[in-house]
Amino acid sequence: MLTDSYNRKITDLRISLTDRCNFRCFYCLPNGEPPLARKETILTFEEIARISRVFVSLGIEKIRLTGGEPLIRRDVPQLVELLSALKPDLSDIALTTNGFDLPRHAAALKAAGLDRVTISLDSLDPVNFEDITGVDALGKVLDAIAAAREFGFDPVKVNAVVIRGRNDHEIVDLARFARDNAVSMRFIEFMPLDSGDEWDRDLVVPGREIRKKIDGEFPLKLVDQNRGSETSWKYRFADGSPGEIGIIAPVTEMFCGQCSRIRLTADGQIRTCLFSTTEHDLRSVVRSGASDAEIAEFIRSVTLKKEPRHYINDTAFKAASRTMSFIGG
Ligand code: GTP
Ligand code: 5AD
Ligand code: SF4
Repeated sequence: MLTDSYNRKITDLRISLTDRCNFRCFYCLPNGEPPLARKETILTFEEIARISRVFVSLGIEKIRLTGGEPLIRRDVPQLVELLSALKPDLSDIALTTNGFDLPRHAAALKAAGLDRVTISLDSLDPVNFEDITGVDALGKVLDAIAAAREFGFDPVKVNAVVIRGRNDHEIVDLARFARDNAVSMRFIEFMPLDSGDEWDRDLVVPGREIRKKIDGEFPLKLVDQNRGSETSWKYRFADGSPGEIGIIAPVTEMFCGQCSRIRLTADGQIRTCLFSTTEHDLRSVVRSGASDAEIAEFIRSVTLKKEPRHYINDTAFKAASRTMSFIGG
């Protein structure tokens, strides 16, 4: 079992496949960040599969593939197939995507063993969508959500980062979208991980306020008082309509005490927290010819360095060493 020094069980590995993205979301990568300098530093699928095998042998149960935009990388279904070989010890393989290329790959991803997808959707208004993401692609993302349902990914989660003055007027419409399309619509507080450095406390819409707004229109019922290591409070519609609402409030209702997550960047660095200011160079360990046992030992030792929590609300807050497009949520 993989545990940190605060006795948290680490069961959830998130792997960034690339730091590149074809969107320019305000809250993530608004100006496009220079991608990682050298292609040679990016882990190959074989390396990722090997590292994942070691992680699973240590107790990782869930793997999520992220980016940047993971589907920019070629042949992602091949990687999913390699990871599927780790089942049933690995119980869940998921993908976080902006959706743009999902319809093209959905069948192959499903056949390769992908279990779940999470798609970003911050606005239902084509003009506002383009304003927030930098691309005129609302239709494509709606197609992706439909494709995800059609190919049987279950549940289909949809992420909206809520930003004061940009899309908070769409909260109720997005909640209605969850009902109409039977998806889990998750509203996320804006965190200081954007490469444009625009984050400001005034732009954060508290989870409480989001829930109240939705509840005023569509009364909500909390699914479970005990959410374990999940990031979201989950709600069903009291009238029995399909769909689900998730409220993810890392800024105003910190959930670090139950964190089960560890992350691997596209260039093979372990991040023990979204907000880590240092990383641990697993790529060098792997490429120096280390055995599986040595890799396992490295992973065990860096897990013990996992931060107790984030410091967003402390005056001494120090920005993470990388922004969201390198980490992947
Ligand atoms: P699953 O739990 O596998 O379903 O993953 P998911 O990515 O669909 O949902 P999750 O709730 O884990 O992540 C949704 C969003 O919550 C991310 O895009 C981040 O914005 C935020 N988030 C995820 N993990 C963390 C975390 O460990 N810490 C903080 N502060 N925020 C997180
Ligand atoms: N704050 C909160 N969530 C973010 N995401 C990206 N940037 C931020 C941020 N600054 C989330 C988006 C996306 C996922 C990859 O990460 O919801 O779906
Ligand atoms: Fe875990 Fe860090 Fe996220 Fe807190 S901020 S929940 S410790 S990854």
